[in-house]
Amino acid sequence: MMNPRVEAALNEQIKKEASSSQYYLAMASWAENNGLNGTSKFMYLHTDEERFHMLKLIKFVNERGGTAIVPSVEQPPLSFDNLRSVFELLLEHELTVTASINNLVDICLQEKDYTTHNFVQWYVAEQLEEEALARSILDKLKLIGNESGGLYLFDRDLEQMTAQNNPAPQV
Ligand code: FEO
Repeated sequence: MMNPRVEAALNEQIKKEASSSQYYLAMASWAENNGLNGTSKFMYLHTDEERFHMLKLIKFVNERGGTAIVPSVEQPPLSFDNLRSVFELLLEHELTVTASINNLVDICLQEKDYTTHNFVQWYVAEQLEEEALARSILDKLKLIGNESGGLYLFDRDLEQMTAQNNPAPQV
């Protein structure tokens, strides 16, 4: 049996990871339709990573005697203003995910569920990495501004960076 409060918070997190996956999929598709191949590949990889985050939670909840709820997800935006706003939205989104993970940690401690607390530490570390990556990408975009040659090179760099990454890990 899982602690019901912890189980509810984990199911809430499952929903957030599913929404993240869908959101980044929308960004991948938009980038693909706007000639931004590198950004598109980066986002296609990212949407898979978010799905992996969701699956990892689903399996944990079920293995611990809880019931994972596979959520419905909201329709993400169809289009975005520009490359910079895509990454600003990504960082903003990751900050809300971090807040949600922190809340989950808090609930685990309040309920003295140390096993789940230990499990959630993986997400704490992951959020740190994702935020740092989003910030470093945004820093580059701020330097480039609206210069199209710079944006072209940025997109190509992102393509190379994504190609060097391993495909999304398996659960
Ligand atoms: Fe699963 Fe990007 O947080």
